[in-house]
Amino acid sequence: MTTTLAERWGIDQRHFWMHGEQPAQPVRHDEARKLWAVSGYQEAVQVIGDPQRFSSDLVPLLPIDIDPALTDGNLIQMDPPGHRELRTLVSHAFTRKVVADLEPRIAEVTGELLDEVTGQDRFDLVTALAYPLPVIVIAELLGVPASDQQLFKEWAHALFASQAELSMNEDDLAEQEAGMSEQNRPAAEMGEYLLAHAAERRSKPREDLLTKLVEAEVDGKGLTDAQLANFASLLLLAGHVTTTMLLGNTVLCLDAHPEQLARLRADRALLPGAIEESVRFMTPFTALYRATTTEVEIAGQRIPEKQVVTVQLAAANRDARQWADPMTFDITRDPNPHLGFGRGIHFCLGAPLARLEGRVALNLLLDRFPALRTDPTTPLKFMSSPDAMGVSELTLLTS
Ligand code: HEM
Repeated sequence: MTTTLAERWGIDQRHFWMHGEQPAQPVRHDEARKLWAVSGYQEAVQVIGDPQRFSSDLVPLLPIDIDPALTDGNLIQMDPPGHRELRTLVSHAFTRKVVADLEPRIAEVTGELLDEVTGQDRFDLVTALAYPLPVIVIAELLGVPASDQQLFKEWAHALFASQAELSMNEDDLAEQEAGMSEQNRPAAEMGEYLLAHAAERRSKPREDLLTKLVEAEVDGKGLTDAQLANFASLLLLAGHVTTTMLLGNTVLCLDAHPEQLARLRADRALLPGAIEESVRFMTPFTALYRATTTEVEIAGQRIPEKQVVTVQLAAANRDARQWADPMTFDITRDPNPHLGFGRGIHFCLGAPLARLEGRVALNLLLDRFPALRTDPTTPLKFMSSPDAMGVSELTLLTS
C-alpha cells in the first residue's frame, strides 16, 4: 500500500479530507457533537450563500453568556442588515488600494527577515518568516507597534489554543464553557489594548488604518468604540494566523511535488495559481459555523431551526462531485473556485492582503534559496486547533 502525503506528514485523523476520505453523505447529523456537518461543495455554497436562513451569530445558541461588548463589531459573527452597514463602513478604510500600496513594504520586511537566516544551513520557516511577516504587516497597517508582537502571539495562542471542537452535546458542555470563558480574558485584553490606541487616534490622527477606522463614516454614522476595538481585534487575529498557515502550507505542498516546484521556479507567473491551489488542497480555515433560523432542507436532510451547522470548507474543497482529481495538488488547476476564503457576504475581507503577502514572500524566498527543501530528519508540527490546518514548525535545509 502506498503512503499518502497525510500519513507521511503525520496529519491527525480528524482532518479526514487530508487522508483522501469523504463522508458518504454531503450533509449529516453528527451525533457525538449534536450538530449538522456539511461537507459537500454545492451544499456548502448553499449554506454560506443564504445568511437569512443560516445566521453567523451563534451566541444565542452557545452554552455561556458572552458579554455583548466583546462581540459588537465582530463582522464575522454579524448578519444583515448590521453586517452590510459595518462592512460598507470598514471597506471605506480597508480598500484594495490600501492593500496594494503595501507591496514594497512587504518586500522590504521579507528581505530583512530572510537576511537573518541567510548563510544558515537550516531554519524553521514559521519562526523565520511565516509568523513574523503577517504580524508585522497587519500591526503596521493598523498602526500598533510591531514590537508588541509577543503580546499578539500570546492572545492568538490563547484564542486558538482550544483543542476541543465546537460541540452542542450536553456531555461536552462543561469543557466548552471552560474553553470559552478562558478566551474571554485575552479577548478583553486585546480589545482594551486596541481601544487605547484608537482613543489616541481620535485626538492625534496618524497615517494608519486605526485613524481611518476612527474617521470612517457612512450616512454620518461612524463606529462606536466597542465596534472599533472588536473589528481591529478581528483584523489583528485573522490577519496573521491564517496567512502564517498559507505560507507554510504552500512551501510544504511544493516541496512534496518537486516537478511542480521546478516549473514554478522557472515561471513565476504560476505563483498565484500555486497559492490558490494550496488554499484548496490544504485549506487553513477548515470549518465555519452557522445557526439555522428556521427549518431548512438541504440534500434531502431536514434540519430544524436553532441548530448549529458546521460548513467543512476543507472537505468541500475536495468534493469529487465538484473537482476533477480532488486529491491531486495541481498548481495549474483552472478554474479553481475553492471556498478557502469563504463565499458571499462574508467573503474574506483580507483575501487581497493574504494573496499579496503570499506572492511577494514566496517569490523572494525562492529567489534567495535556490535549493530549499524540507529536512527529512525533523518531524513536522501542525496547529493544534481542529478547525485549522497548517504547519506550525517546518524546518528547511538551504542546500
Ligand atoms: C472572513 C479565511 C486572511 C480578515 C474570512 C472567511 C474565511 C477566511 C473562510 C469567511 C468567514 C465566514 O464566512 O464566516 C481566510 C484565509 C486567510 C485569511 C484562509 C489567509 C490565507 C485574512 C487576512 C485578513 C482577514 C489577512 C485581514 C487582514 C477577514 C475578515 C473577515 C474574514 C475581517 C470577515 C468578513 C465578513 O464577515 O464580512 N476569512 N482569511 N482574513 N477574513 Fe479572512
